[in-house]
Amino acid sequence: MNVEQLLETAANMVAPGKGILAIDESTGTIGKRLDSVGHENTENNRRDYRETLLTTADIGEHISGAILYDETIRQKGSNGDLMVDIMNEAGVMPGIKVDTGAHPMAGFDGELITEGLDGLRARLEEYAELGAKFAKWRAVITINEENGTPSQANIDANCHALARYAALCQEAGIVPIVEPEILMNGVHDIDTAYDVSELTLKTLFNHLYEQDVLLEGTILKPSMVVPGDKCPEQVSVEDVAEATVSCLMNSVPAALAGIVFLSGGQTEIEATDHLNEMNKLGPLPWPLSFSYGRALQASAIKVWGADPSKNVSAAQQELGHRARMNGFAALGEYNSNMESS
Ligand code: 13P
Repeated sequence: MNVEQLLETAANMVAPGKGILAIDESTGTIGKRLDSVGHENTENNRRDYRETLLTTADIGEHISGAILYDETIRQKGSNGDLMVDIMNEAGVMPGIKVDTGAHPMAGFDGELITEGLDGLRARLEEYAELGAKFAKWRAVITINEENGTPSQANIDANCHALARYAALCQEAGIVPIVEPEILMNGVHDIDTAYDVSELTLKTLFNHLYEQDVLLEGTILKPSMVVPGDKCPEQVSVEDVAEATVSCLMNSVPAALAGIVFLSGGQTEIEATDHLNEMNKLGPLPWPLSFSYGRALQASAIKVWGADPSKNVSAAQQELGHRARMNGFAALGEYNSNMESS
């Protein structure tokens, strides 16, 4: 294991004022996003849209790396250059999603287990050769109090897989992003979200310890502690920030290299507000930044989709703006007046 390389990559991923762009939607998921703006799910459209994002001027100022899907890491941009070369030139490290998706867990109705460990060592070696510096594996935890989920068995199985994946990544010189997403779908309140997040994180770090994963070369990608989207009691930005930071302080070792949040269905502004409020509660033991998918892309894809032949630079301005806003939020220096600047 090349410890020095892992530490350097991890530190660069969460450099001050920088976060990660998640554009690793599977072919099915990007198809839904393209369809929502009136475009077909073709390889050319996927390439044109993602190339638009990755060629945003000065993207490297606030984006340290981007998580790619298998297709993109092998793909060439419209000028014939490899996407990974375009990224490296822009100062954006290539990352790769390596799980093969969350599937129904046998014997546990309504719960999902993430697959992809078989053959992972060889795939990671290939991805490292293709230029991947870090990887992502997403586990999905579902809260449904009526059905009694999540079960301990589901949390254990998902965290065990995350830890095996992380160990294999580090062996290949790749920094693992471990992502245990507690879904925000449902009627549960923020206290339930807190309890499930705490249990999941404590279980995860136990498994990472058992599998001898180097925390200094690992990045955590958690969901924020928020009430379910159908919970009648929604809470303030301050409440989300306090609950999330308190949960992390109770569950995450200080040795960890950094934390980058997923947005999980929050609006662009909510995701920025929450991150900023959390950083205002610092100093904290780890950098707290972002690895948003939808909360970085929502405005950009709408503008691009309205007319891809004319709106490339307008879409890039949208992405550049959100990256800058979240860059400030990662330092606790954002305020809503900046949105109009
Ligand atoms: P969202 O920010 O849209 O939740 O996506 C982040 C991600 O990478 C989920 O795995």
